[in-house]
Amino acid sequence: MKNVIVIGTQWGDEGKGKIVDWLSSEADVVVRFQGGHNAGHTLVIDGITYKLRLLPSGTVRKNKVSIIGNGVVVDPWALIDEIKEMKSKGVEINENNLILSEAANLILPYHKEMDEIREDSAGKAKIGTTRRGIGPAYEDKVGRRSIRVMDLTSESNLDSRLDAALIHHNALRKGLKKTIFKKDKLKKELLKIAPEILKFSQPVWKRLNEFKSKGKKILFEGAQGILLDVDHGTYPFVTSSNTVASAAATGSGFGSNGSNYILGITKAYTTRVGEGPFPTEQKNEIGNLLGSRGKEFGTVTSRKRRCGWFDGVLVRQTIKISGVNGIALTKLDVLDELDEIKMCIAYKLNGKQYDYLPAGAEDQFKIEPIYETFPGWKESTKGIRNMENLPNNAKKYIYAVEDFTEAKISSISTSPEREDTILVESPFA
Ligand code: IMP
Repeated sequence: MKNVIVIGTQWGDEGKGKIVDWLSSEADVVVRFQGGHNAGHTLVIDGITYKLRLLPSGTVRKNKVSIIGNGVVVDPWALIDEIKEMKSKGVEINENNLILSEAANLILPYHKEMDEIREDSAGKAKIGTTRRGIGPAYEDKVGRRSIRVMDLTSESNLDSRLDAALIHHNALRKGLKKTIFKKDKLKKELLKIAPEILKFSQPVWKRLNEFKSKGKKILFEGAQGILLDVDHGTYPFVTSSNTVASAAATGSGFGSNGSNYILGITKAYTTRVGEGPFPTEQKNEIGNLLGSRGKEFGTVTSRKRRCGWFDGVLVRQTIKISGVNGIALTKLDVLDELDEIKMCIAYKLNGKQYDYLPAGAEDQFKIEPIYETFPGWKESTKGIRNMENLPNNAKKYIYAVEDFTEAKISSISTSPEREDTILVESPFA
């Protein structure tokens, strides 16, 4: 039996929410393994809209266990608020169906402030982060001065951990001419909410191992996309975690030898939020059309997403990096009205042709796409649930994506509705 890892193969916002929701109905356990509340998944179930940021998508379904792994950075107040919000919509969340890794690192108010200070003072070098404190929290984790969930169990331990973190942060804040961050108020606030957080805290690696032994179906739910991976993405315009499929193992303590199906969610065109290179970006009518038909606004920050043509070179690259077994192609219907559709099949830079995106940001900004053009289908694909019913030109485009990226299409999504999906191969089978 396979466990499934879902990841985004572009810059995030590939439409993971719908696919993860559909897969989570088949899974027993749903695990988040990286990122934090910078992610945003919107689910619509029985007419009720759920906006999830930190909680795994399994949360809104009955009889599922949801897990927040050690690789996730957790803003404890954001978690409490989200749990409250879900409960107010009738979702049951308790110690039996939500597990939080005792080793997860906390996002604290000084991380959020540092994220904002940096973004506001970076000028042209700004990343366009979600300003949630994600980057500074991961820095503290690697810098070994982070406060983890388990540190909330003892006041004396929390006290010395806060000292270690604030020596660093206050030195930076002084240098940046910001007020000193006071330990006592934060410590008091953390101790106050500690019981609400600690009741979910468990050794996730152990629980996952038990679920695996019992043959439970486990779904690992990636956030963001591979092009935002801190190692493999368009650095420095990336998030601060590893978003590749292998992060599911380190971010949860689940061995990497589980039999996994890696599903790469891939949008039929490309979008990006925030700054950074985007070779196929269309700052024109085409981009506007994709944005309005695709409702391309961020779930977390409501920012308008930048839009462009499908970049086959980039997706082929991220598919190789993550070992993707199958693609779930999303938002095909957004392309319905176009006369012609372009796909980037190579790049050129300084007279040289490239079949991959070079790693340097300077090159990435300058590189020019080489396109192959496909005729549009000019009819509605919205809601189509069978491959045979798709217009011929849509099929040609889909097969071209499959051929070029060298990954099998496992499903095609033709509207935001869960049932409007053409299923070619089921990842859990
Ligand atoms: P951070 O993760 O808030 O540090 O932001 C770093 C970069 O990742 C920025 O370009 C954000 O717009 C982008 N980003 C973070 N989370 C998401 C997401 O869930 N979808 C799309 N982009 C994201």
